[in-house]
Amino acid sequence: RSAGIIGAPFSKGQSRGGVESGPDRIRAAGLLDRLQQLGCAVKDYGNLAFEDIVLDEPVRGSKSVRAVGRANQRLSEAVQAVKKDGHTAVMLGGDHSLAIGSIHGHTAAVGPLSVVWVDAHADVNTPLTSYTGNLHGQPMSYLLYELQSKVPVLPNFSWMKPCLSSQDLVYIGLRDVDPAEHYILKLLGVKVFCMSQVDQLGVARVMEETCDYLWNRAKKPIHLSYDIDAIDPFITPATGTPVVGGLTYREGLYITEHLCQTGLLSAVDLVEVNPLRGRTEDDVHSTVSTAVDLLLGCFGRLREGNHLPDYSLP
Ligand code: ARG
Ligand code: MN
Ligand code: MN
Ligand code: MN
Repeated sequence: RSAGIIGAPFSKGQSRGGVESGPDRIRAAGLLDRLQQLGCAVKDYGNLAFEDIVLDEPVRGSKSVRAVGRANQRLSEAVQAVKKDGHTAVMLGGDHSLAIGSIHGHTAAVGPLSVVWVDAHADVNTPLTSYTGNLHGQPMSYLLYELQSKVPVLPNFSWMKPCLSSQDLVYIGLRDVDPAEHYILKLLGVKVFCMSQVDQLGVARVMEETCDYLWNRAKKPIHLSYDIDAIDPFITPATGTPVVGGLTYREGLYITEHLCQTGLLSAVDLVEVNPLRGRTEDDVHSTVSTAVDLLLGCFGRLREGNHLPDYSLP
């Protein structure tokens, strides 16, 4: 197992500054060392440099469309390079609009995917349904084949095409879904485990059913797109759009452990960590260290303990 880490310090999919420092804060919390201690080989591809776009007027109410389009084109290329080098790709955001390039690049490199989207939000608004005009609330609408006719042609998006079927997607943790998004999820029959279902079934059953559902078609490489706001803001307050009533730390971690042990996890996004949104340094620390723990869970860290295969007693 090896991890290829891409920092994506990008914040223009939403309006709050600070989320661009997520990658460096997550690295500074010791992610690379701790992955290596698990016996995981790590290659850090560094942070992407995103070009400044001077004239980026709103398009049909959506903001910074050209910047988001160009940044995701760069990210897609970077993810393809990491997959061609044979690593599990780890994309550190940045805001969730980056899932466009991450999922696009991942499929371009390995073919059809299963996507597990862990989030308080569905992020499936189209530019025409969004109340906020923020692209981080829209990435899934650009990726789904079934919504192609509902998404207008946008500047700097001509490099990409939809690449995901709504049958290959599972949401976990939803609790703040806009009416148009809810309509879309029902119309397409998307598999959703909202927080009520997590309450009802428990996270173990949710994960079993998630894998059964996805594997009913075929066992494909899994893309995990983890928005830190899926976790309860009591634990991860340093994020741009916190919503009460989220996953516990243990539920959040269990999702990563379960997906890791499938052996199919092929790329992970960890997005929306915003160090400037914490009120105290403790808020930021708790958010960042939870993000690191979720990533370690994706690479085989077990709460029962771990030891390297060549370990012997002194
Ligand atoms: N549904 C809202 C919107 O469209 C909130 C989206 C929040 N997304 C996120 N990635 N945190 O703007
Ligand atoms: Mn969210
Ligand atoms: Mn999100
Ligand atoms: Mn124990």
